[in-house]
Amino acid sequence: MVAIIRRPSWEIAERLATPESVYLNRRSILKGMGFGAAAALSHGAVVAAAEADPTADLYPAKKNEKYKIDRPVTPEEINANYNNFYEFGTSKDIAANAQNLVVRPWEITIDGLVEKPFTIALDDLVRKIPLETRLYRHRCVEAWSMTIPWAGFPLKSLVAMANPQASAKYVRFETFLDPDMASGQGNFLYPWPYIEGVTIEEAGNDLSFMVTGAYDKPVAKQHGAPLRLHMPWKYGFKSIKSIRKISFVEERPVGLWEALQPSEYGFWANVNPEVAHPRWSQATERVLDTGERIPTLLFNGYAAEVADLYVGMDPSTLYM
Ligand code: MTE
Repeated sequence: MVAIIRRPSWEIAERLATPESVYLNRRSILKGMGFGAAAALSHGAVVAAAEADPTADLYPAKKNEKYKIDRPVTPEEINANYNNFYEFGTSKDIAANAQNLVVRPWEITIDGLVEKPFTIALDDLVRKIPLETRLYRHRCVEAWSMTIPWAGFPLKSLVAMANPQASAKYVRFETFLDPDMASGQGNFLYPWPYIEGVTIEEAGNDLSFMVTGAYDKPVAKQHGAPLRLHMPWKYGFKSIKSIRKISFVEERPVGLWEALQPSEYGFWANVNPEVAHPRWSQATERVLDTGERIPTLLFNGYAAEVADLYVGMDPSTLYM
């Protein structure tokens, strides 16, 4: 059992992990057969889901021109069919199973060291804070990357709504827990629910983003509908999906992956090409879907925005 815990499939050394090439091959075979857009989850199904969503009128959200990047946007059908969402399975191919995620009603509880804990429906929350679209790099600890047009609002707006006490040092995020809905949560090798945490200073950084949409519509279930985090200067596992609870706490939260394997998945998880994962290099990354290998950048290219957060801290702890 320990061996299984210590080697979940997404931790496999990159040279051994081929699911996307298998997937891309499958796509080109389907394309060759004339099925093109029908591969895996059809675009039509995604659009139909968006139409039924009572928040659909909020998209496309106004583009925030500050967050543009020098990379092409990853095609939606690639992004929508290559995911890490262990609640729905340990492969990348969870999009179909993730459609079991019931996103309405969906309430988010804000508690812990705040002026007054409260619970709010997602459909109300998204109308309280203006939404915007941002282009963000997304870099997984497995060394693949994408570029995504997210929509949502800055995490710091939510922090302001919560009005945390001075003693709150960290923000802790928790995903739903429902093994009947999410078959992966029946896998007792993982300490469900998925948890992640960031410092209150990180939560206040302009880049920290609560995602409610992507590709000009409500965010798809496989991406962590209806509310997920994205911290683009950190490895993707920090960006917790399908958030139910946000707690302001004094103690540093221990995330699911840190709980499983602290020597490989630390609290900070800041992207650094010079600090290898214990089992593979982080110097370069594979761009999906082109497969091109490009150099990884310190803080995933966001050093100007975030380096100040870590001044004076021990660098040997910050990059894993
Ligand atoms: N959040 C939850 N609840 N469950 C997960 O398994 N996987 C993480 C992160 N958030 C995960 C999660 C990992 S490892 C990555 S790389 C990103 O989500 C993947 O996001 P994407 O599938 O939208 O690209």
